[in-house]
Amino acid sequence: MKISIIGAGNVGGLTAMRLAEAGFGEIVLVDIVKGVAQGKAFDMQDAGAVLKFDCRILGSEDIKSVKDSDIIIMTAGLARKPGMTREDLLNKNARILKEVCLEIKKISPGSILIVVTNPLDIMAYLALRVTGFQPERVFGMGVSLDSARFANLIARELNIPFTDIDACVIGSHGEGMLPLPRFTTIKGIPLNEVLEEDKARALVQRSFERGKEIVSLLGSGSAYFAPSQAIAAIVRSIVKDEKRVIGVSAYLKGEYGVKDACIGVPCRIGKNGIEKIIELELNKEEKTHFSDSAESIRKNLELVKLNHEL
Ligand code: APR
Repeated sequence: MKISIIGAGNVGGLTAMRLAEAGFGEIVLVDIVKGVAQGKAFDMQDAGAVLKFDCRILGSEDIKSVKDSDIIIMTAGLARKPGMTREDLLNKNARILKEVCLEIKKISPGSILIVVTNPLDIMAYLALRVTGFQPERVFGMGVSLDSARFANLIARELNIPFTDIDACVIGSHGEGMLPLPRFTTIKGIPLNEVLEEDKARALVQRSFERGKEIVSLLGSGSAYFAPSQAIAAIVRSIVKDEKRVIGVSAYLKGEYGVKDACIGVPCRIGKNGIEKIIELELNKEEKTHFSDSAESIRKNLELVKLNHEL
């Protein structure tokens, strides 16, 4: 397998290391800033020598080195600064993404493209339109990270191990996410039966704010330990054809009542990318929240379509 990562910043760099350590294949790391990707690749190769594994990793500033990749992970772009919303990043990152995707379309037409650059759902849609790839092969990493954050908060509240928790979050990545206590289970029992409503609501609220909280504590840049881990889990499911159900930003053609937008929903992920979109039976209140989340994506999509001639 050839797995390329575009953007050798915090998320891209750590993802490259995780994938190399897992031995998923040959890793190519690309960054527009001269020397950065190559420097990080050398450093990771040296780490391989410490751990005694063959770390096949190449760093480059030339986008052409992603040619004929099986999987491409797009992390290039600007990260959020304190006080900045994901939507503030919209136009700057859309420009970068469009340029990179036009190149991917030419030199790596058979790849599966995982978009990480924020605002995630809009960037995933943009990548889909610009490459013209099948929707099964272009999706975003977002709500699986939000689910992990929700699960972590639940584990701390109830003092139970992560292995007992199956957290479910759908919707737009970040502040527009929709954690679902009814579909989140503790040893198979729905969270809303285990935890009082106000406590569950407080956890949901804290999950909304988790990304922002990390950004403001870090002072510069945004989260990368959990995001890179979430990317690695998706890549594992593709490389090993695990067919795990993972929340990703998928292109909907009417599922959940949403048409022509990318948004976070549970999907079966295997060697072909998205192999099935799982439709949960939402109740009235959940449906309203989900369509609000989709609506906020749609507004930004209109802006992107206008500004970037889609
Ligand atoms: N081609 C390749 N690399 C690029 C390009 C480009 N056209 N434009 C920018 N980059 C690189 C930058 O040089 C930088 O090294 O993308 C990298 C981004 O890294 P960071 O600033 O460290 O950001 P990071 O924390 O990795 O987040 C990347 O993922 O989670 C999201 O919101 C986050 O959109 C952001 C992305």
